[in-house]
Amino acid sequence: MTWVITAKTRFYLHDDETLLAGLLRTGHNVNFQCKAGYCGSCRLRLTSACRHPITYAKPPLAMVEDNEILPCCCQVKGVIHLKNIS
Ligand code: FES
Repeated sequence: MTWVITAKTRFYLHDDETLLAGLLRTGHNVNFQCKAGYCGSCRLRLTSACRHPITYAKPPLAMVEDNEILPCCCQVKGVIHLKNIS
């Protein structure tokens, strides 16, 4: 089970739910367009409290820094802390 902690709330992801889908389901305001790792518009920052590695089934085409993720296509485990999202 993956727990997601934001400034607004905390929630868990359903099986096979993307992080983007979970954020939208719980009323977070997240930009997105392609939902496939191409455009980068869903890019979010992690806090330093995240200890589990973020992985991608396929490397995304959009550029991401070490502390950034693409919630439309990343694979998360454990507990994930997100910055600057409400
Ligand atoms: S929505 Fe395009 S990279 Fe996530």
